[in-house]
Amino acid sequence: MSTIIGFSLGVHDAGVSLIQGGEIKAAYSEERFSNHKNKGHIINKSLDMLIKDFKLDLDTVDHFVTSTPLLPNEENIILKKYHNKIQFYPHQYCHGLGALIFSGFHAKNNVMVLTLDGGDHNIYNLLYGEYIDKKVLNWLNDTMKDHWWGKFKNIHNASDGSISVYNSGNLELIKEFNSNLGKLYFFGATMMIYYYNVTGTNVEGKLMGLAAQGKYNEHIYRTFRNMCLFNKDTESFEDQLPNECKTDNWNHGRILDSIMLSLFQHSKEDVAYNLQKYVEDTCVNLIQFYQEKYKCKYICLSGGFFTNVKVNQVINERMDFDEVFVMPAMNDEGIALGAALSKCVELGEYNFDKPIDNVYLGKEYSSDNIRRFVKTRFMNYHPFSYQHIINELKNGKVVGIFRGRAEFGPRALGNRSILVDPSDKDTFTRLNAKLHRNDIMSFAPVIMSEYVDQILDCKKSKHTAEYMTICYNVKQEWINKIPAVINKFDNTCRPQILRRETNEWLHTLLSKYNDLTGLPLLLNTSFNGHCYPIINSPLQAWEALRDKLVDVLVLDNYIVYYDYRK
Ligand SMILES: [Fe+2]
Repeated sequence: MSTIIGFSLGVHDAGVSLIQGGEIKAAYSEERFSNHKNKGHIINKSLDMLIKDFKLDLDTVDHFVTSTPLLPNEENIILKKYHNKIQFYPHQYCHGLGALIFSGFHAKNNVMVLTLDGGDHNIYNLLYGEYIDKKVLNWLNDTMKDHWWGKFKNIHNASDGSISVYNSGNLELIKEFNSNLGKLYFFGATMMIYYYNVTGTNVEGKLMGLAAQGKYNEHIYRTFRNMCLFNKDTESFEDQLPNECKTDNWNHGRILDSIMLSLFQHSKEDVAYNLQKYVEDTCVNLIQFYQEKYKCKYICLSGGFFTNVKVNQVINERMDFDEVFVMPAMNDEGIALGAALSKCVELGEYNFDKPIDNVYLGKEYSSDNIRRFVKTRFMNYHPFSYQHIINELKNGKVVGIFRGRAEFGPRALGNRSILVDPSDKDTFTRLNAKLHRNDIMSFAPVIMSEYVDQILDCKKSKHTAEYMTICYNVKQEWINKIPAVINKFDNTCRPQILRRETNEWLHTLLSKYNDLTGLPLLLNTSFNGHCYPIINSPLQAWEALRDKLVDVLVLDNYIVYYDYRK
């Protein structure tokens, strides 16, 4: 059995993963170790930590695997020393295979796998940031031919999406395409920043939040339609823009100003609403076309586009699939794992009998390590106690959690989370202020799986909701009980459905909280400050407590407070 290291080395969301003996051992995102949100280009810190934690000798690693985009980096040990052992898998395939395996649908047939992202996996575009004509490309090839990374020069993969169908153990690629759907959303986010002064990180998320507050407008909707239209006859995406505005050039800032100006007469909420509606409608059209053609009953979604939990909700509710699954690490950090899984499956080593039921694949600190840290840093500490935590939550306190292994992917699922009572309507404003965030989307709940049907209109696709990847409508009788975790504009929420087997201590906490309050859920948001990645060390947790992001901190088997009198 092989040791496989997968890595992702693009302009954003770099990371590494490790598969040994057919099992996923770890997946680390570079941002968590560099403390730089969405860090791309290098994997030095995450790789160093992987080597240390798993006592790896890189000389004995059997396979290094990745996908485009790949940026040259003189300091990267894999690129420098092991480049002859590197194998590439297509970018969209890595997204798709990862989703298929995490979904568990590989035991079924008639599975559609749809990937969509921002595209631009052509390394030359990434290197130089703008369109390069043939002459320049030839010059580059010539210049780079003796360089150590010159061997990668023909790795091009400019698609931003793919449709595959899985049957009888075979994942068949039907179509790769350039949809520009991801770029269209990016265009909307850019407009929010430059025209409407929306600030902070994750502007795409804010755009999605604003969409719930807008209304339909034909002019805006048609404008987006003209930029990106699925043509069923040619099975491709087209635009109706003049030549100088062709979508190949969308990234390069010299177009689209006139479009933005024409939209700017409308409110940002209406722009957001119509953009969101357009991408939802287009996804439905695209999927419906291939669903009818290939008679698919299940669908897996992956790629950064599917961070859009409202699109995922529409696919789940409007389309006739038995079940929808969204890859938990749907963006490019998931490529590190998708590439390693691709190799493992190709070798016939992947253990399909062991279903994946969590993403606790990140960094872990030993209990001894944390005990020493607590005893040197804190004077005010207490042993772990459910009742103690529940009392704090009931008193409206903001509780930071640092226990077990970190989650892989963009969501905190209980081990690097902030938990708060969900029943106070003022929590949204209070928590945003405390965390120095300006989020527009509502906070999300973690709900005991046993109670989900009582609270949510959630007939199918519950498995994917274990990873907070999809929205559901909240049942009328719960809307006033849990306002802190509901989008008040459309009465939806984006839950983490928690089964006991997945995270036993958190499930026990919810159960005891329910016994006392009648609420089998808590608000769960990621444990990080504004514009920073989710915390990744006890020291960062201590800093968050010191800076009053949280009122109380659960650090492994301790409950700690900051002593400001020191
Ligand atoms: Fe991607």
